[in-house]
Amino acid sequence: MTVTLVPPPAPHVARTARPLDVLGVPGQVNLDYAATAPCARAAADAVAELLPWYASVHRGAGALSRRCTLAYERARQTVGDFLGARADDHVVFTRNTTDALNLLARALPAGTTVVTFGGEHHANLLPWPRGSVRLPVPREPAEAVRALAAALAELRRPGPGGDHRPPVLVAVTGASNVTGERWPVAELARVARRYGARIAVDAAQLAPHAPVDAAALDVDYLAVSGHKLYAPFGAGVLVGRGDWLDAAPPYLAGGGATSHVGAATHDVRWATGPARHEAGTPNLLGAVALAAVCAALVEADRAALHKAEQALLARLRRGVAALPHVVELRTFGPEAPRVGIVSFVVAGRDSADVAAELAGTHDIGVRDGLFCAHPLARRLLDEAAARSGRRDLPPTALRASIGLGSTAEHVDRLLAALAALA
Ligand SMILES: Cc1ncc(COP(=O)(O)O)c(C=O)c1O
Repeated sequence: MTVTLVPPPAPHVARTARPLDVLGVPGQVNLDYAATAPCARAAADAVAELLPWYASVHRGAGALSRRCTLAYERARQTVGDFLGARADDHVVFTRNTTDALNLLARALPAGTTVVTFGGEHHANLLPWPRGSVRLPVPREPAEAVRALAAALAELRRPGPGGDHRPPVLVAVTGASNVTGERWPVAELARVARRYGARIAVDAAQLAPHAPVDAAALDVDYLAVSGHKLYAPFGAGVLVGRGDWLDAAPPYLAGGGATSHVGAATHDVRWATGPARHEAGTPNLLGAVALAAVCAALVEADRAALHKAEQALLARLRRGVAALPHVVELRTFGPEAPRVGIVSFVVAGRDSADVAAELAGTHDIGVRDGLFCAHPLARRLLDEAAARSGRRDLPPTALRASIGLGSTAEHVDRLLAALAALA
């Protein structure tokens, strides 16, 4: 049978727009990228272009369905390439980073010990099994590397049972969602390797700001959220070693994850590869949107984007430091490398009230609270009180975060609004 593929109608988008322009609402200053970034033009265009063809994935012989299946699998390839997947890695589409790390937690071989730090987002603290080791928040990146080496040496010390070496997984963030500070991922990976451990990197906050390459960093797993990477529509991804994933029970049981289902209740052969953990109809538009942004970032001058973001970040941090009633939160020293995130408190003011006032009076959106990293945020609030000598700091914080489309005017509006709170 011959199927004629009808060309899609021209997408309804301005041809002059650039792929990494972001959508937004005039007048509204969005400084909450770390929670969810705005939609990139590339993602919106890719979805608009595919929508007329929208049909089932992996489940239809029709022309539309075949095109959608192709688009989904191409998206997998693009996202995998963007994140430096090795030839035998799996690229599993998930809902977000939380979902990706929960999938990895379910795929751990029995007896695996997971080692994390207390500075992680809840998504990288809570999924891990009992018996996991949580190392204290270090005061500087080098201390993290030393603490990990010491912990792994201890875990690898032969016990009474001899030289049995149960698996160890180190799970760390690439960049903190509270402070934006970057963690020494490559060094931690080297330490993990030295002790025969695997390492997973929560790249939810790092990937939107800097290239992250599993092979180059020599990390075993990467988890990323599309909605933080300018790609709405609800896709995330887990990239990494296929062996644990193929040996694990499927994350979800259902259609698409099997290679054979017999009449008897438990007569099931589960698929291997990404399909094993992607039961049910997949999120085509999410995957396509994410791939479109990845492709646009590959084409972009990332060094120039980084430079522009760092200039804005420096402007924001300088401005915050100049306000005597505002105190920045930080884990490492003030000069530690970081992505476009700054958390702070306004002395004497409730953070939720400040966020509401910034929104209501100034049309500025920031985040307030403990940022789903309660142990770290509480610790940094205590540390900020000690460093500033102030006794009137509130128990929760504010966070401003920037990225593509952020401008000096946005930063200055926030600084002026904060100054007005004095
Ligand atoms: C560092 C970090 N990890 C994981 C997550 C969880 O991401 P998601 O809510 O997209 O699953 C977040 C979200 O803020 C984050 O900042």
